Amino acid sequence: MKVITFGGIITSLRLPDRDGKPDDVIVGVDQLADFETRSPYFGAIIGRYGNRIANSRFTLEGKAYTLAANDGVHSLHGGAIGFNKRVWEAKPVQGDHKVSLELSYFSPDGEEGYPGNLPVKALYTLTDDNELVVDYTATTDKTTVLNMTHHAYFNLAGTGSGTVEHEILTIYANQFSVTGAGLIPTGEIAPVADTPLDFRAPKKIGADLRTAHPQMVEGRGYDHNFVLNRADDGSLTLAASVYDPVSGRTLDVLTTEPCIQLYTGNFLNGTLPGKYGKLIRQGDGLCLEPQHFPNSPNQPGVPSTLLRPGETYRWTSVYRFGVR
Ligand code: GLA
Repeated sequence: MKVITFGGIITSLRLPDRDGKPDDVIVGVDQLADFETRSPYFGAIIGRYGNRIANSRFTLEGKAYTLAANDGVHSLHGGAIGFNKRVWEAKPVQGDHKVSLELSYFSPDGEEGYPGNLPVKALYTLTDDNELVVDYTATTDKTTVLNMTHHAYFNLAGTGSGTVEHEILTIYANQFSVTGAGLIPTGEIAPVADTPLDFRAPKKIGADLRTAHPQMVEGRGYDHNFVLNRADDGSLTLAASVYDPVSGRTLDVLTTEPCIQLYTGNFLNGTLPGKYGKLIRQGDGLCLEPQHFPNSPNQPGVPSTLLRPGETYRWTSVYRFGVR
């Protein structure tokens, strides 16, 4: 695995296929300037707030906060300069049967409109069990909201090999957040049954991708937040599985978070030169972003994303790789 301090971005991860042939499964660009100016969050740490905050506003303890609008009128993935565009301090950590890279960043009070001084740590760990473990921790000195995620785009057949539509996906979720205009959730939590969003049983990503269901039109494909079938206890739970029948590579995503965003790279339009001299086109990568409900500070009745002084924010997701 290769990581850069800019955005804590995972720039490459090489994995053997079923015959032992290694390939880089991380989709992205290879020029720092592209990461700085026109990367759609390739491989990056996302904060302070993953996904969208409607109208770039929320109220906390009676006080109104205004954020940078960087997605029309909405605030996406932390605002104009999110954690994906900050330079993190890196420190290698050697463990037993694992090796880690610890990344640290200090987000000052008021950054991108969010309250509280927020020291953040991200720990990338590779284990002997073929896992990439990502741990985030953070504290604050003022009550704030925090909803981090990770924005790796995977292509298990190898980046540059084309679309992920033939890969087989399972998402352990019976429900999803219905999205409306601007990909802002309407507040309705709907069953996935009888919709293209039903991934409860393994299904080709492309199978229903072109169904003109209103939700698919809204998202230009999959850009949806699934409510995981899980205990509400913050334990590490299996959220999604991917299998690439061509290479045999498998990926299981486990997380402590209540939801996962599925994004099929709908906005990738072939204007970005990617790694290995290949253009990045729509559907060439798949994001599975463990996180809270989108827009939760403005959404009554969903789990809280509040972080108070004295508390420690913890986020863990495991990307477990294998071959079949
Ligand atoms: C997330 C969002 C998408 C898009 C991508 C980056 O997955 O949900 O709508 O913004 O990030 O392009």
